Amino acid sequence: MENLISLVNKIQRACTALGDYGEESALPTLWDSLPAIAVVGGQSSGKSSVLESIVGKDFLPRGSGIVTRRPLVLQLHKIDENREWGEFMHLPRKKFTDFAAVRKEIADETDRETGRSKQISSVPIHLSIYSPNVVNLTLIDLPGLTKVAVEGQPDSIVQDIENMVRSYIEKPNCIILAISPANQDLATSDAIKISREVDPRGERTFGVLTKIDLMDKGTDAVDILEGRAYKLQYPWVGVVNRSQAEINKNVDMIAARRKEREFWANSPEYKHLAQRMGSEYLAKMLSKHLENVIKSRIPGLQSLISKTIVELETELNRLGKPVATDAGGKLYMIMEICRGFDQIFKEHLDGIRSGGDK
Ligand code: GDP
Ligand code: NA
Ligand code: MG
Repeated sequence: MENLISLVNKIQRACTALGDYGEESALPTLWDSLPAIAVVGGQSSGKSSVLESIVGKDFLPRGSGIVTRRPLVLQLHKIDENREWGEFMHLPRKKFTDFAAVRKEIADETDRETGRSKQISSVPIHLSIYSPNVVNLTLIDLPGLTKVAVEGQPDSIVQDIENMVRSYIEKPNCIILAISPANQDLATSDAIKISREVDPRGERTFGVLTKIDLMDKGTDAVDILEGRAYKLQYPWVGVVNRSQAEINKNVDMIAARRKEREFWANSPEYKHLAQRMGSEYLAKMLSKHLENVIKSRIPGLQSLISKTIVELETELNRLGKPVATDAGGKLYMIMEICRGFDQIFKEHLDGIRSGGDK
């Protein structure tokens, strides 16, 4: 059976393909009810680095100040072919094999929406990455939380970013990847503060501790990583990303992953935790978790999809057949996709009932 995460990916893309027409249909509700993982944290906490190590590619814009100014919905698709490429929803037929060009397109598409004003916008950019080296996962990169506006930005930006982040993570279906740097006091972590607000019991928050290699001599993160300090429902995962110097020296992701593995395996304090630390572990753990969450939501998703099909049929009848308009064509396409899902979900449920599920 097709992987559940890639199925949900398809529904998400189908919903977005409907564009502004979706505002009046049942699809925004459907989109909101699909589980996804949002990455939150203060500026420079290591969000982009964590995302890049999960993907295993350099593809995100970098720089100082507020670089991420629009949400980036990143869908990772594991494929069997030995090649990799990126595709943007706003450029449907273009395959990006050069990841530096992906980075440039994210920056350009951000500017197209915000007009180079350094303003932020809540209109997401959708990017799919196809690769044999990824796990199936949907991640949303959000602007970094900040305490002060930089030059050229209005003071309101601090609050605007917080509101945008909150609007994503307050949805009960959102899994929160809360990024905090280990070389700062966790009591001041923006990520922990905002995730506690929307998920006080930590039922959907995963704490990620970055910059463990940068902690002061004589201090370590063992109490946190072993769950004695700042305990969350799920165990913390520590990661070691590339330093700025390594990025400047173009240390590639493969070398970075190897170095990270060696860090965990060779540090006397962390050796015993090595099995459940690092970016690769994080990616696999999240993919597994996302799949379990989707499985537990299948009955709800299925009834929502049935409802969507009925609403789309009504809408299509209203438009009249044969459907000539652009909107009608899109609606028709979405309905076909929904029907396909309905069928697959039914089969999946039958599989569970008959005990045949893997
Ligand atoms: P973002 O603003 O949250 O997206 O943070 P970035 O991922 O851009 O990281 C900010 C800076 O911290 C960059 O210079 C990174 O190289 C550096 N950095 C991030 N994580 C680590 C880490 O685990 N160790 C070290 N040494 N540097 C890190
Ligand atoms: Na933070
Ligand atoms: Mg960033």
